[in-house]
Amino acid sequence: MLSFIVNQQVVRTDQHPGMVLLEFLRDVRCLSGTKEACREGECGACTVLVGRLQANGRVTYKAVASCLLPIGDVDGGHVVSVEGLLGAPLTLVQQLIVDHTASQCGFCTPGVVLSLTGFALTSPTLSYTDAIDALDGNICRCTGYVAIRNAVQQLVNQLATTDHTGAGRLAALVAAGVVPAYFQTIPQQLAALPQPSGKLDPNAVLVAGGTDLFVQRPEALMETPLAFLSQRRDLDYVRVEGQVLRVGGGVTLEDFRRSETVLQHFPALARDMLLHSSTILRNQATLAGNIVNASPIGDATIMLLAADTTLVLEAADGTTREVKLDRFFLAYKQVDLRKGELIREMAIPLLPPGGRYRFEKVSNRVTLDIAAVNTAMRLVQAPDGTIADLRISAGGVGPMPFMIHGLQVFTGRALDAPTVDAIVQVAASAAKPIDDVRGSAVYKRLLLRNLVRALLTSAVAEEVAR
Ligand SMILES: Cc1cc2nc3c(=O)[nH]c(=O)nc-3n(C[C@H](O)[C@H](O)[C@H](O)COP(=O)(O)OP(=O)(O)OC[C@H]3O[C@@H](n4cnc5c(N)ncnc54)[C@H](O)[C@@H]3O)c2cc1C
Ligand code: FES
Ligand code: FES
Repeated sequence: MLSFIVNQQVVRTDQHPGMVLLEFLRDVRCLSGTKEACREGECGACTVLVGRLQANGRVTYKAVASCLLPIGDVDGGHVVSVEGLLGAPLTLVQQLIVDHTASQCGFCTPGVVLSLTGFALTSPTLSYTDAIDALDGNICRCTGYVAIRNAVQQLVNQLATTDHTGAGRLAALVAAGVVPAYFQTIPQQLAALPQPSGKLDPNAVLVAGGTDLFVQRPEALMETPLAFLSQRRDLDYVRVEGQVLRVGGGVTLEDFRRSETVLQHFPALARDMLLHSSTILRNQATLAGNIVNASPIGDATIMLLAADTTLVLEAADGTTREVKLDRFFLAYKQVDLRKGELIREMAIPLLPPGGRYRFEKVSNRVTLDIAAVNTAMRLVQAPDGTIADLRISAGGVGPMPFMIHGLQVFTGRALDAPTVDAIVQVAASAAKPIDDVRGSAVYKRLLLRNLVRALLTSAVAEEVAR
């Protein structure tokens, strides 16, 4: 039996853990404020907040796409749909949307309200940029975004003096009318609920964020035992040990992007994660899920490949083995993962002095879109500017993500125009793209050439500027 809180009510249910939250809210709880449209994480109409009790006794909330979130993953948590935002009579976000005429047909509005409420609850800066980023997964087809942006600007202005550091934040948001007062009782209520054991069934289908699984086979997942990685709280860490950034297998893309440690050691990697899907997806989706999905154009995978990542794989009996990420992919959608094994950790070497990291992606839209071609580079230059080490990964130009081989010959060479041309040529020769909906093979090979050139010339430009 699953137990969680929906708005103000404790719910116990025997529904299959693979039922998606959207269906549970609308069809089982008759809460129709959460809208259903694409059912594929693309539109944000189904956005809700999910809060989880932390070790410090506080609850952290995330805006998520309920159409891809199985209810097994909210066990022991707090789900907030638009019906749970009871202001007087509206919350601050809702009132600002009314005041700025930022809703027309209203279909996207509950999702927009929940995303902005999530921003108010979690943003480390409460800045306008952060608020706009929080809406990158919410599509509005009729109001137009200017009115929504005006409401956002006003929200940010009104929250400017809010205590956004720690314990006082929730009380401040209640006082500002952003969330109802009952939110303050949720930590005690969640503490009284049975929390998941954290033991995963090795024979069950492992669900991390579910953002690939619940697009690919939602019906099948209603028929099979599931194990939820979010219950392994011990896999939720980002830390530096020696010269290695260690990232737990349960870390979401958004937590990775926000991590102070990542910002300190790989600011470019943190920035590039914004190009991955959207906030409501990144709040669920994990780096490990992106790797095991083995898409030839997985963005996080391409970034981590170039960064020379090693995977620590954990078997059901707790024993571990290490596999370099560039050896993990065996063939199209086939990886070196044994039955019952999971990715416990991704170990990323820190950049040495003279090291640079870059990522490039071309997709139809900036956010909410997978790449036609993507590529990343880790370049280490000697003090005299010559190449000491060069790694370039490529996606969308073969059946699996891969490293471009043969770059060692450039070690010791100056990063000048002839060298750049030669590296671009090696990359183009390694590409084996096919014609598909994302572009012709000719186009994708040309993209890779141009993106690799962009990676290298930005490094040259930086070198000149130094
Ligand atoms: C609207 C939309 C937009 C998207 N945009 C992008 C994009 O821009 N770029 C991009 O790269 N992808 C994108 N994706 C794909 C997806 O979001 C990512 O691949 C995501 O990182 C998958 O992670 P997850 O945790 O949700 O994986 P899940 O769906 O939970 O799992 C995927 C697979 O990995 C396995 N798995 C998960 N974690 C582990 C682990 N620790 N150990 C072993 N096996 C594991 C699961 O069993 C499953 O087989 C998008 C998806 C959607 C729906
Ligand atoms: S219904 Fe479109 S994101 Fe969920
Ligand atoms: S108000 Fe109609 S889709 Fe946004």
